[in-house]
Amino acid sequence: MSLKEGYLLKTVEFFPPSSAHELVIDKGEGSYLYDIEGRRYIDFASGIAIAPVGHCHPRVVSAITEQTQKLISSLNFLWPKVKIDLAEKLMSILPKPLSNIFFCNSGTEAIEGAMKLARKAKPNRPNFIAFNGGFHGRTFGALSITSSKASYRADYFPLLPQTFFIDYPHKISTDEVLEQFEKLFETACPPSSVAGIFVESLLGEGGYIVPPADFLPKLRQLCDRWEILLVIDEIQSGIGRTGKWFAFEHYDIVPDILTFAKGIASGMPLGGFAASPELMKHLNAGSHGSTFGGNPIACASALATIKVIEQEALVERVAYTGQRIKDRLKGRFENYLDIRGQGFMIGIEPKTPDLSVKAILARAQIKGLIALSCGAHGQTLRLMPALNIPDEVLNEGLAILEQIFDYEILVAAECKRSKYQEAIDS
Ligand SMILES: Cc1ncc(COP(=O)(O)O)c(C=O)c1O
Repeated sequence: MSLKEGYLLKTVEFFPPSSAHELVIDKGEGSYLYDIEGRRYIDFASGIAIAPVGHCHPRVVSAITEQTQKLISSLNFLWPKVKIDLAEKLMSILPKPLSNIFFCNSGTEAIEGAMKLARKAKPNRPNFIAFNGGFHGRTFGALSITSSKASYRADYFPLLPQTFFIDYPHKISTDEVLEQFEKLFETACPPSSVAGIFVESLLGEGGYIVPPADFLPKLRQLCDRWEILLVIDEIQSGIGRTGKWFAFEHYDIVPDILTFAKGIASGMPLGGFAASPELMKHLNAGSHGSTFGGNPIACASALATIKVIEQEALVERVAYTGQRIKDRLKGRFENYLDIRGQGFMIGIEPKTPDLSVKAILARAQIKGLIALSCGAHGQTLRLMPALNIPDEVLNEGLAILEQIFDYEILVAAECKRSKYQEAIDS
């Protein structure tokens, strides 16, 4: 039995089937991952957008190392200095009035906190609205407003009652979305009963869908009109990934509550939500808390990550290079693939059912490239390389993908041709 087979057997023994994977990784370095047999992979998934400056960036590693020698414990009844330093740094990248932050450990906790804040700030408004295809996490509150895959929710009912869903503007216009709101408000859920509307600025797990430019501004207006809090979930799309620090900045609006996690601390567990001081004052003593939230090591890692992104001008690089990647792929495959996204959050969806994302991903892995799918049926290939992936590694990974697309397109055409021939012959 090979080393790899031995480890995989142990994973079956030690972990539930919900966490089944095929690779056992020993080391990450920049945009490369190495499995336990020393095989090298180009990483176009970044651990689902959690490694914005690549794996084990030397400055992140040294910030973590230094912090371990000073203070490890979260001490949530005292103030770790680095937590305050991180909050101050975040102020420099967050638009006003988002100048108050609650730190937690993950995305789903950030959403739970945002839901609680919305309920505290809007008493007698028990309802939440979210979007079909949205993903906000796996704990009961966050799961209640998640609808990207039925399997995430199956067997966990009843979830939070009082949650309603509207279609995300994919293949429908913003005005059609607004009509759905109107209908919902007139029938099942009066606007005066809604505490918050939860939305991703770029639909992530639901299929990497960029909304029309008027969507978030009109949603902002709708929230203002009915005094509903607009909660924007940037857990996947934040921290520079779309070519802005946060994807909502593409639309010249500011949410009432912003949730973040994933990439902020280069893979250390850190999440949070930001709001104005006026709104956040509703979280009075005892109303919310976390033992580990804002752990000093995670904060040190986040501080170093943000500084690297800033000093290496990675947000600007991602905006420019992301567009170049889309242009390059569209130039060759537009007839077969829908190529979309912003920055380094790129979705590629076959336009024909003959092309299988699953097969493309399996072939990519064999060729040393790791990428992922998204969408309710895994119908979209998503690319989320590190924001600082070197040009030559990016090009090598794209060349692997292009070769696979060429091959799969050829095979699909050949299959079609021989089926057609069979039909003629019979
Ligand atoms: C948009 C969005 N919200 C929330 C979450 C949940 O984050 P976590 O897995 O850290 O709980 C995710 C995770 O993929 C996400 O993409």
